[in-house]
Amino acid sequence: MEIKEYFTETRERVDACLDRLLPAEGEAPTTIHRAMRHSVFAGGKRVRPVLVLASGESVGGDRDTLIHLGAAIEMMHTYSLIHDDLPALDNDDLRRGLPTCHKVFGEAIAILAGDALMTRCYQVLAELPGVSDGVRVRIVREIACATGTVDGMIGGQVADLESEGKPFDAATLEYIHHSKTGALLRACVRSGGLAAGAGEGELEILDRYGARIGLVFQIVDDILDVTATSQALGKTAGKDVKAGKATYPALYGIDASRRKAQELVEAALEEIRGFGERAQALRALAGYFLRRSA
Ligand code: IPE
Ligand code: IPE
Ligand code: MG
Ligand code: MG
Ligand code: MG
Repeated sequence: MEIKEYFTETRERVDACLDRLLPAEGEAPTTIHRAMRHSVFAGGKRVRPVLVLASGESVGGDRDTLIHLGAAIEMMHTYSLIHDDLPALDNDDLRRGLPTCHKVFGEAIAILAGDALMTRCYQVLAELPGVSDGVRVRIVREIACATGTVDGMIGGQVADLESEGKPFDAATLEYIHHSKTGALLRACVRSGGLAAGAGEGELEILDRYGARIGLVFQIVDDILDVTATSQALGKTAGKDVKAGKATYPALYGIDASRRKAQELVEAALEEIRGFGERAQALRALAGYFLRRSA
């Protein structure tokens, strides 16, 4: 399985779906729609939709439903990036290779563009085709919990900000990373499974896979912040040390952080060992999470 091709193909489908699901630039009030589209189409990797698709396909799901679900989650993720970059949070000028939303549209519109992408995500989930009402509600709940304050993205962002410039321990670091980043990635895997009609046993396996690679993703994000260039990342490199962020390299160093990521990937692969041919993409993705360079 060539994961690069899987990404390219999925990205094309997801981008076409996002284009259909977002209000047009010319729709009033035009400023907010231009701001939403600026950040969504700036060129993200689309890791979350790819994960939704790979997870759903591993249990035999319908591609159109999964792409639709992935597009909704990408809206949620893009909202989190817009707000993460705001001056009051990480204060970043560069995102996905372009000036950040607040740099182009001002802070007020950037805050509202983030809010709008979140609410649009829920609208799209409420209209998700190809699933029963019961499954739709379960998926909405997954995404709401994963991005909320209790072990979810917002809780993790709060802990991330409150740990800046302070000593931190391993438990706090793991909490931050599981919550701010891992939870949504885990929800991608779980909701992809749900949309595909996974049984409870399959869902438990997907859950354990998702928890592990979700953490890997943020460990590698931390490593890349130290080792990669801003040009390669499309966002400002080297910011975590300057901001005194709680990161894996700061606590363990680069080599030990890589080893931890490697161990987590091996554990994730072990979880899905019994899944067979249909989990090819899910397996290839675990390797990609470890080896990615951007
Ligand atoms: C960046 O996510 C923020 C984190 C949660 C680490 P991605 O690395 O997936 O960013 P895009 O979507 O490709 O821009
Ligand atoms: C962001 O973590 C997690 C989010 C919820 C957006 P980071 O602050 O490390 O993400 P980058 O490095 O700015 O993409
Ligand atoms: Mg941040
Ligand atoms: Mg940031
Ligand atoms: Mg980072």
